[in-house]
Amino acid sequence: MAEKEIVLSGIRATGNLHLGNYYGALSKFVRMQDDYDCLYFVADLHALTTNPDPDKLHENVRNIVAEYLAAGLDPEKSTLFVQSDVPEISEMYLLLNMHVGIGELMRTASFKDKARKQLGIKSDSENIESQIIGSDSNKRVNAGLLTYPTLMAVDILIQKANKVPVGKDQEQHLELTRRFARRFNSFYGVDLFPEPENFNFGGNAVKVPGLDGSGKMGKSEGNCIYLIDDEKTLRKKVMRAVTDEGPKTPGQPVSQPVENLFTLLELTSTPEIVKHYRDAYADCSIRYGDLKKQLAEDILKVTLPIRERILDLQGDDAAISKALRIGAEKARERASKTLAEVRHTMGIRKF
Ligand code: ADP
Ligand code: TRP
Repeated sequence: MAEKEIVLSGIRATGNLHLGNYYGALSKFVRMQDDYDCLYFVADLHALTTNPDPDKLHENVRNIVAEYLAAGLDPEKSTLFVQSDVPEISEMYLLLNMHVGIGELMRTASFKDKARKQLGIKSDSENIESQIIGSDSNKRVNAGLLTYPTLMAVDILIQKANKVPVGKDQEQHLELTRRFARRFNSFYGVDLFPEPENFNFGGNAVKVPGLDGSGKMGKSEGNCIYLIDDEKTLRKKVMRAVTDEGPKTPGQPVSQPVENLFTLLELTSTPEIVKHYRDAYADCSIRYGDLKKQLAEDILKVTLPIRERILDLQGDDAAISKALRIGAEKARERASKTLAEVRHTMGIRKF
């Protein structure tokens, strides 16, 4: 039998999972389990790059594992682990950093965004590089944030993963990972790392929009529908979603906030229902209240069963630690093989 391709992905332990995480990442993790050799992890070290909080971190890791299991990740099929349980990652992160340029890290879009937040800069017109260099030690951008892409590349390369299911916002990080893999291979004249790619079942990378009219649903944007939201909270959020005053002329273009609702409907509903509302928009008969009610109904069909399972699993530490123990062993086994190869390749030898 041909060997299955390696899939690896992770989500930072920074809070509960929302629909963006679900459609951008988690639902793909679940669908890939049977056809690939899958490793999925909780990125707790990456979570430390923003607002480290020892009281919350452990809780956040537990929540994500519960949410992974509740959404259908099966520890019998996939390797589930916590990033910090694989210390080989941290060592290889140090080694790979020797081949990564500060300049390329500073140009990464997510670094600039997060650095701006850490320095409390609102506008994106200000020259962030000079602000970082000039910042005093109380208001600083931490080096872990700068080297975030190295750590992510190591997560992927240490498992020699071929496919990395992530949302659209992570594609720049994947591009860097490929570049680092190529660079390492060619610098040492080896063929150690495959070049990983995003995976979307043949479709485009997903970007789930927010309910506030903005282009992206995200924790820091405060516009999320969480898998753990109860029915009342969820309906309220959807009914309050931003729209516009409605179409006035047939065939008029759809505004961004309303297009966002259609995008969410396309993710959660049937093609017939989507067509019904698209047609109603085109002939100006649409009532946004009806569209929102329908949307809330369809989202609830996806999230409520997951919510029930999350609530059960949150109290079941035994199930969580069992899943993670087996996973960490498997992930470490693969990682330590790669690390040994990397050490050898770089000239670190025992006497
Ligand atoms: P957040 O942006 O809420 O902090 P993360 O950065 O932890 O979420 O993202 C975890 C995973 O979920 C990544 O694969 C990311 O691409 C995906 N993801 C997050 N938000 C969205 C979104 N709005 N649309 C599509 N995928 C998303
Ligand atoms: N950077 C990813 C995010 O913010 C999380 C992540 C860390 C990841 N390491 C990874 C995703 C490796 C895929 C593969 O969502």
